[in-house]
Amino acid sequence: MNILILGSGGREHALAWAVMQNPKCDRLIVAPGNAGIAQIADCASFDIENGGAVVSFAEENAIDFVIVGPEAPLAAGVADRLREAGILVFGPSEGAARLEASKSFTKEICDAARAPTAAYARFTEAEPAKAYVRAHGAPIVVKADGLAAGKGVIVAMDEATALEAVDDMFGGAFGGAGAEVVIEEFMEGEEASLFVLCDGTDILSIGTAQDHKRVGEGDTGLNTGGMGAYSPAPVLSVEVEARAMDQIVRPTMAEMARRGVPFQGVLYAGLMIQDGQPRLVEYNVRFGDPECQVLMMRLGAQAMDLMHAAAEGRLAEARVNWADDHAMTVVMAANGYPGSYEKGTEIKGLDALPEDSRNMVFHAGTKAEGGAVLASGGRVLNVTARGDTLQEARDRAYAMVGAVDWPGGFFRRDIGWRAL
Ligand code: AMP
Ligand code: GLY
Repeated sequence: MNILILGSGGREHALAWAVMQNPKCDRLIVAPGNAGIAQIADCASFDIENGGAVVSFAEENAIDFVIVGPEAPLAAGVADRLREAGILVFGPSEGAARLEASKSFTKEICDAARAPTAAYARFTEAEPAKAYVRAHGAPIVVKADGLAAGKGVIVAMDEATALEAVDDMFGGAFGGAGAEVVIEEFMEGEEASLFVLCDGTDILSIGTAQDHKRVGEGDTGLNTGGMGAYSPAPVLSVEVEARAMDQIVRPTMAEMARRGVPFQGVLYAGLMIQDGQPRLVEYNVRFGDPECQVLMMRLGAQAMDLMHAAAEGRLAEARVNWADDHAMTVVMAANGYPGSYEKGTEIKGLDALPEDSRNMVFHAGTKAEGGAVLASGGRVLNVTARGDTLQEARDRAYAMVGAVDWPGGFFRRDIGWRAL
């Protein structure tokens, strides 16, 4: 099979790494890719959010199967254009991608599916939204309805912060994403993520993970795209996962099918768990980044067969071949991230690190220049390892982190603290 992966982050490097291990893959192209991906696959450059451009490239290169990494192409209808052209694709339609692209749509689906989630109200004007905040008091959560690159959620611990967030959102701080605002009950508990493949009808759990969103040790400081992750998530025990599947994921998928927008791809359910009861925080319609890195490390070559089965509507017969293992990824980011940071600093020492089924450095924001690897983004490397225990995975990952020579970067030393 000739395979095309869309995206350029650590998530796509991990997907490419898993796909390359599968003997069914004859040729892999990643667009646009990065310096790490270029070491294992061909990279191509075109506008991955333009459905017409993706279809043309796929046709010219005899692509049999397209895997879409990030949400933006999905929300732009790229999977629809590929399906219309008769090209097999892993990823939901624009309509089904609304589970991530619109928070009010997700709330409406949860209501119809009776899936447990935070109580909420939606607003298109500031004054009624502020009246709601005053009536309910803090803590309370204010969310811009649309895609805001992970920045459109304000968890307000006091009323003034919530009122300010309402004004900011309606004032255009998040552009069109803030034209509608969802205000939610603050949920207490422990957060974890469940990843489920869906083929429109059947579903298959492919693992659980927890990430660390804050930049600083002890989960302090500013929010980031994620500073590290591990799988499995101990809080998602077999019983809690079964509850999440039965009460949240399955009814959501059934409701989507009933509405004529069946979901095909990976559904990432962000859950809040309290006293063994999961409630939905949000859905994403793609793999998490860096959660994908630990899932791929654990699944290996079978990941491609599972995604292919989802795309072809064959999930009913698919099974995950689980090893009793654990994986961890530690993000190395450019000094200053998530604020402004320097680009172009050189990273050394990567060639000496092991690259095998238990140890892998996935590249996020890197570029190759004259034989050197340079940092080109905020989150730059995802140092990932697998072990029989989480402690073993952790020790192995941090041993590799210690061998990376990059004065321009930093990392958190406490990834996995909650589970260890
Ligand atoms: P989201 O983009 O919806 O995942 O929100 C970002 C983060 O805000 C989540 O990962 C949670 O940590 C937090 N959050 C969102 N909604 C709630 C809620 N209703 N209660 C508590 N925390 C929340
Ligand atoms: N790591 C969080 C996300 O991918 O949304």
